[in-house]
Amino acid sequence: MSELPGKDLELLEMAMKSIEKAYAPYSHYRVGAALRLANGEIITGNNQENAAYPSGLCAERVAMYYASSQYPDLKIESIAIAAHAEDFTIKEAVAPCGACRQAMAEYQTQQNSPIRVIMKGEEGPVLAVSGIHDLLPLLFHAEELKRKK
Ligand code: THU
Repeated sequence: MSELPGKDLELLEMAMKSIEKAYAPYSHYRVGAALRLANGEIITGNNQENAAYPSGLCAERVAMYYASSQYPDLKIESIAIAAHAEDFTIKEAVAPCGACRQAMAEYQTQQNSPIRVIMKGEEGPVLAVSGIHDLLPLLFHAEELKRKK
């Protein structure tokens, strides 16, 4: 963490703070996310679970969907993710699930500029990638939906 640029550190601290408000009564695995928009505003989110398990949503998508719903014209510059498990210590950086990577990829493609992802566990190094392609190569994107003659 000590080697992180100031902007990443600030975002990660917001993600860690957001863990406190997670609603995770089933997994006891609390995740916080914070994303920075092009105007400097930071949006946070955390995982929201449900007794009907698949109805829950990851922290990353809570933050991204809120950001896109409120500020559809602002680019997402970066997103930080942190987590706390109530029953054990998270020994490595938390990497976003496949569905969250796909959602990140959609916004990155649509805004035509990379989204930086900063990931932290409770132990071990913080990981950062400078775009979603490092997390999701050969992604499925909107072009695939267009008929090709
Ligand atoms: N979760 C996230 O919020 N983000 C991730 O990157 C991984 C998983 C949540 C979903 C669920 O509420 C809990 O963590 C356990 O999977």
